[in-house]
Amino acid sequence: MCGIVGYIGFEDASTFMMEGLSKLEYRGYDSAGIAVANAGKIKVQKRVGRLANLEALVKENPNPGHIGIGHTRWATHGRPSDMNAHPHTDEKGLFAVVHNGIIENYLPIKEELMKKGYHFKSETDTEVVAHLLADLYDGDFEGTVRRMLNRIEGSYSLVIMCAEAPDRLICTKKDNPLVIGLGKGENFIASDIPAIINHTRDTYIMNDGEVAVLMKDSVTITDRDGNPVNKEVFHVSWNAEAAEKGGYEHFMLKEIYEQPKAIRDTLTGRITDDNSQVVYEELNWTPDTIKNINRILITACGTAYHAGLVAKYYIEKLARIPVEVDIASEYRYRNPLTDEHTLAIVISQSGETSDTLAALKEAKRLGAKTLAVTNVVGSSISREADQVIYTLAGPEIAVASTKAYTTQLVALLLLANYLGQLNGRLDGQVEKHILTNLKELPTLCHEIFETVDDIKAFAKHYGFKEDAFFLGRSIDYAVAMEGALKLKEISYIHAEAYAGGELKHGTLALIEEGVPVIALATQDDVREKMMSNVKEVKARDAIVIGIGVKGDTELEKYVDHTILVPAADSFTEPILAVIPLQLLAYYAAITRGADVDKPRNLAKSVTVE
Ligand code: G6P
Repeated sequence: MCGIVGYIGFEDASTFMMEGLSKLEYRGYDSAGIAVANAGKIKVQKRVGRLANLEALVKENPNPGHIGIGHTRWATHGRPSDMNAHPHTDEKGLFAVVHNGIIENYLPIKEELMKKGYHFKSETDTEVVAHLLADLYDGDFEGTVRRMLNRIEGSYSLVIMCAEAPDRLICTKKDNPLVIGLGKGENFIASDIPAIINHTRDTYIMNDGEVAVLMKDSVTITDRDGNPVNKEVFHVSWNAEAAEKGGYEHFMLKEIYEQPKAIRDTLTGRITDDNSQVVYEELNWTPDTIKNINRILITACGTAYHAGLVAKYYIEKLARIPVEVDIASEYRYRNPLTDEHTLAIVISQSGETSDTLAALKEAKRLGAKTLAVTNVVGSSISREADQVIYTLAGPEIAVASTKAYTTQLVALLLLANYLGQLNGRLDGQVEKHILTNLKELPTLCHEIFETVDDIKAFAKHYGFKEDAFFLGRSIDYAVAMEGALKLKEISYIHAEAYAGGELKHGTLALIEEGVPVIALATQDDVREKMMSNVKEVKARDAIVIGIGVKGDTELEKYVDHTILVPAADSFTEPILAVIPLQLLAYYAAITRGADVDKPRNLAKSVTVE
């Protein structure tokens, strides 16, 4: 996720901004930039790569002044480059803008402005904001910002500077964080608290729709209509380390709680307003594009491989195309049967996993059409694949993947619908039902967070057991595999997942009194079969935690504890069902005193074989 800083006061703005941006480095970024206003002119400096590159530029070519805005960018629209880095300005250099989030309707606005003769320099959605401000400008900075806000849709935190009003910064937000730091004779803006806590601990936490005007001695906050808002000062008592984690104890927990936003961002602009169709503009496929594809290969590692297993069910059920899923390190060495009629999909959070990259190259060599699903713009895998779908989870720092996995499932469910749409195998009503539920998914995730106390209690109770088993059928089986991986990688409890029907072929021998079994039961069509499996393990005195769907009054009769996820449909419920499993793994690891964010022997990105 990008980082934002802003300064107005008596100190050198670029000194504060460089320091503030360095405090946000942990969030990940691919380029950085600052803009400082001085003597009626705005000077912008930007560099791709590490902050040190920008630092060297500023050192060589100082940017003095007491008002400025700065940004570290995590690419979403347009690759990492000097040009795409923020701040963005209009052609006359009247406005400078830094932005986190996505301007959903940037394309029609861009086309409209280009017709009027505006020239765009970058591939970003943000640049439209700068040109739009210039187009709407009538000498009134604040009024112009408000008119601009009436035109843009999407999610954003924005900080704007105007060369003709060098005594103020204006900022606003929707669905992205923004905080104002209150100083004496100086004020600060940041997307995250770590950037400012060396300077002040008194803050205003901005709410959606609020517009703040910062001068060096005052901060005025109004709502979208210009009515004054009285805000309480929030005094930050966290230390620097806790501030990086947004007040959460670990990055993993923070990232679990970021899932509603990450899912919303991944869905943005990809479903039509009437929920009838998927729009994958980046693919822009027609029925002809997939006419000659007779099989799909999905290959990946770790959690991304588990997302691929779910996608097999999605694609086969919705688009009726046969899907083979393989672990990347196996695929690359097995002399696979891939050809020009294969669509090869590789999934990778980092876009850098060496086995996945090698598998992608192998599929390409064999003539397959290749598609990457990744979270990192400009990554090796995104550059190697013919086409890319980005998940918009933002940087994931904890080794155990959470929000990257759920956004992969969302992107792949959209893809399954898209394929079914293109080959005519998907019924329009079914698609509409799924897409309507997908749009609701971020809200539904919040309902699961309400069950966290129960999950903590189970984790405390069962946290010291040495083995755990996860059971599921159909899509739930694939999700069970991810649940088992989460538990083993961070709590070091031996955990295994089984397809319900396989139980009697071996695993049942290991079920004895007190063994925890986590049984997933979200899939209606195999429900009765799943209940038989639950009875089988209960008969051997296992302790069963059942994960079902709200409205299921039967499940609790057979299991020891239940967690019910909101009712949606059989494709979206498994995405919800993994969240309690992530929380269970997290709290089990806490109970055992494990290093949650950095589990022993594991790395976030495995770039060697
Ligand atoms: C490592 C990480 C896992 C991840 C896997 C694949 O093992 O610890 O969390 O699932 O690599 O990573 P990728 O970046 O390709 O998704």
